[in-house]
Amino acid sequence: MNNLERRLECAKTIAKAAGVFALNMRDNGNIKVSVKNTNDFVTDCDKATEKFIFNAINKEFPNDGFFGEEDDNVEGNGRWVVDPIDGTTNFFRGLPNWCISIAYEVDKYSPLIGVIYVPCSDELYYAMKGKGSFLNGKRINCSNIDDFSKSLIVCVPPHRHKESYNFYIEKMKAIGDSVSDMRSLGTCAQELCYIAAGCLEGYYELFLGYYDFAAGQVIVEEAGGKLTNASRTEPFKDSCCNIVVSNTLLHKKIEEIIFD
Ligand code: IPD
Ligand code: CA
Ligand code: CA
Repeated sequence: MNNLERRLECAKTIAKAAGVFALNMRDNGNIKVSVKNTNDFVTDCDKATEKFIFNAINKEFPNDGFFGEEDDNVEGNGRWVVDPIDGTTNFFRGLPNWCISIAYEVDKYSPLIGVIYVPCSDELYYAMKGKGSFLNGKRINCSNIDDFSKSLIVCVPPHRHKESYNFYIEKMKAIGDSVSDMRSLGTCAQELCYIAAGCLEGYYELFLGYYDFAAGQVIVEEAGGKLTNASRTEPFKDSCCNIVVSNTLLHKKIEEIIFD
């Protein structure tokens, strides 16, 4: 096994264990919710799950860097990019759509490994650059829908940046006018997995953290899809990223509307 394969296997084991850890904590009740920013919540379980992941990775790869949403950051060889619970609101409201998201990269913003575990449906999605995408060990691929009017597209309103609503709703309406239907499930990472598995065709959201989509990016790309910057002016950074994602076939269509 080479170094990347070792990291992938390790991330798969840790993501599953972290999912069970978070699920047990939720089922035992008493989750404490606090507010980070407008409509941006964190629970004690998000923080404990990130610590759990950090400790497990650090034990195996003590020289690796780590960038977690809940502030566990260390410099090192490459970096792990972790969203301990993506879909926090779903998590504490008792909805099933939330997941553990773990990526690893050597060059910034070019993730090489992506692992996403959805505890409530026991789905483990993973991918490594050049090796394809998998769900519970089975190869997955993006859909071959190339007719925009037959597509299902995720558009997520900027719920933490209401000042951008008017701009966004205009784009969302233009997309909605042309597609079959729209979705918004409250977990970017899991929705990217659905694009990789061919259940959805596209995704558009503003103001994401890099940890929201780093793992999903590899999983989508290795399934034949595409993830690009939906901002013409701002390069990707650790926060405030705008993204457009698709099964590749419909990428131009979505971009035409966004950049119109
Ligand atoms: C959020 C989810 C949500 C997306 C937000 C993210 P969190 O992550 O991915 O789907 O719309 O922009 O911040 O806060 O649940 O980890
Ligand atoms: Ca997130
Ligand atoms: Ca999170």
